[in-house]
Amino acid sequence: MNKILNITQLAPEVFRMEVEAPLIARERKPGQFIILQIDDDFGERIPLTIADADPDRGTITLIFQAVGKTTHLLAEKRPGESIAALLGPLGQPTHIEKVGHVVCVGGGIGVAPLHPIAQAMKAAGNRVTIIMGARNKDLLIMEDEMRRIADELIIVTDDGSRGRKALVTEPLKQLCEQTPKPNMAVAIGPPIMMKFCAETTRPYDVHTVVSLNTIMIDGTGMCGGCRVTVGGETKFVCVDGPEFDGHKVDFDNMMKRLRAYKPREDADHQAHHCRLDAAAARLR
Ligand code: FAD
Ligand code: FES
Ligand code: MG
Repeated sequence: MNKILNITQLAPEVFRMEVEAPLIARERKPGQFIILQIDDDFGERIPLTIADADPDRGTITLIFQAVGKTTHLLAEKRPGESIAALLGPLGQPTHIEKVGHVVCVGGGIGVAPLHPIAQAMKAAGNRVTIIMGARNKDLLIMEDEMRRIADELIIVTDDGSRGRKALVTEPLKQLCEQTPKPNMAVAIGPPIMMKFCAETTRPYDVHTVVSLNTIMIDGTGMCGGCRVTVGGETKFVCVDGPEFDGHKVDFDNMMKRLRAYKPREDADHQAHHCRLDAAAARLR
C-alpha cells in the first residue's frame, strides 16, 4: 500500500499527487515511470511518469490528466487514502549528456514528463530552449517550473489565449532554421504532436527523442501490449523505452494500436460517471 500525502489540481482535469514510495524515490532517474493499480481486486494497471521525487521524504510526484475511468478514480482519491500497488521505477532512464543546445517540446500533459528531462539536460551543461503548447491558456501547466530551467521559454496555444497562436512545430521549425541549428530535440505529448515534431526536425537532421505512451499492462516485456515498430524492428516500450529516436518510430501503427480498446474504455468511463451521478443524487 502506498499512502497519498497530497493531491492538488493544476488545470481542468490535470492533477498533481504526492505518494509515499521510498524505494522508488531513491532509485528513479529522469524518463522513468511507474505502473499503478488503484485497488487490489479488479482495477486495471496504468503507467504514469515519475514527474519528481524526494528521496528524503520518501515520496514521488505523479502528474496526470483525468481522461478515462482509472485516471478519474485516481483523481477522486484524497490525502490519507492509499494506492494498492505501485511498480517501478520502470523503463530506461533518459540518456543525459552535454550536447550543446537542446530544444525540449512539451504538449499538454506532456510537459509533466518533460520537466525532469529538461532539468537534467540543463544540469548537464546544455543550453535549454523549452517550447510549451496547449489548446488554451487554462490547459498550460508547470509554466513557473519550466521558466526556472529554460534559457528561453516559448509558449504557444491553439487559440492564442496565451503566448503565440501556433502549434509547437512552428517555433521548432524556426529554431531548426537558425545557424547553428539545435543539437537535439526532445518531444513529449500526444502521439500526433510527437509525429509532427519528428517530421519537422527530419529535414534538418536534428536528432529527436520522443517518449512513447503506448498501452501497457505488465510493464516487464512479457505481455506485448506496448509493442511498437522502430526502424523496422519490434520494440517493447516498457523495457526498451519509453524513449526512442522519433525519426524511426512508426507512429501511424502506434496510434492505431492505441485506439484498440476505445469502445470498451468509453463504456467503462460512462458507467463510472453514471454511478457517480447516482451517488450524488442520493446525497441530495
Ligand atoms: P481510458 O479511457 O481507459 O483510456 C484513454 C486512453 O489512454 C486510451 O485510448 C489509450 O490511448 C490510453 N490508455 C488506456 N489504457 C492504458 C494503459 N493501460 N496504458 C497506457 N495507456 C493506456 N498520462 C498522464 O496523464 N501523465 C503521465 O505522466 C503519463 N505518463 C505515461 C507514461 C508512459 C510510459 C505511458 C505509456 C503512458 C503515460 N500516460 C501518462 C498515459 C496514461 O497511462 C493514460 O492516460 C491512462 O492509462 C488512461 O487510463 P484511463 O483508464 O483513465 O483512460
Ligand atoms: Fe507488457 Fe510492455 S507492457 S510488454
Ligand atoms: Mg482505462
